[in-house]
Amino acid sequence: MYIIPGPSSQVLAGSVARAMQCRLADTEFFHFPDGEQYLRVPDDVGDHVAIIQSTPTDSDYIALLQLIDACDAADRIDVVIPYFGYARQDHRFKHGEAVSARALARAITADRVFTINVHNQSVLQYFDADATDLDAAPAIGAHLASMKRDESDSLCIIAPDEGAIDLARSAADYLGVDFDYVEKTRLSGDDVTIKTKKLNVAGKDVVILDDIISTGGTIVKTALLLRENGADRVFAACIHPVLARNAATHLFSAGIEGIMAADTLDRSVSVISVAQLIADAI
Ligand code: R5P
Repeated sequence: MYIIPGPSSQVLAGSVARAMQCRLADTEFFHFPDGEQYLRVPDDVGDHVAIIQSTPTDSDYIALLQLIDACDAADRIDVVIPYFGYARQDHRFKHGEAVSARALARAITADRVFTINVHNQSVLQYFDADATDLDAAPAIGAHLASMKRDESDSLCIIAPDEGAIDLARSAADYLGVDFDYVEKTRLSGDDVTIKTKKLNVAGKDVVILDDIISTGGTIVKTALLLRENGADRVFAACIHPVLARNAATHLFSAGIEGIMAADTLDRSVSVISVAQLIADAI
């Protein structure tokens, strides 16, 4: 079996290949002068391949389709999309809109598809292939456990919106620490409000845990509320560190002590690996 690393997931694919002790294919890719992409998998990759490619950009999505096509001689193709871009466009919010997650999922031909903490599991139904969402919450929990200075250390996990409740609760359960959530209303792509709420966080270290940090607006507004409630240190953690534009700067300017994320996207904050989770699933 070969692991096929997509351009956006080379580090994670390498870690999965190491965890599975299987071969890592070479890939060649570049852009033509007109902007079109070229992709080639020169190795003879055999019967079973696992393509690993996150799709944070349109170009990464094109590369995923090209990888699948390049491996068409394989009898069995598993596709791992650690971060599936467009998953937040999971249904029609307004008349006439494209259900973008559905449009993209439909074009992916494979035997099995794996996502990791996809924004809404309803998108799994859009894949023709057998699609499974893997849960990185225990990996996040295990990492956060190393932050506790001692057994009596008071740590609290906060979900910054209702969509993150299951993830945050699951990590808190793993750690055996307190958990709460706040209610968010999205006003635009980069503006949210967080409903005022009394939180039992005075003097505690708090981790705000979300599936995605994109502009950072959700974390910044939640951190403000936590400060008002007397929290001590506030950290941000997520599965998918999209970190669009100057999100990281906004987080640190808001007093966030540190950002911890899974390696579904290859960023400097991606310190929590999902490689073993993927290896086990494949
Ligand atoms: C949306 O519901 C997601 O779970 C995240 O809360 C959202 O993507 C975060 O976006 P931003 O960082 O731009 O506030």
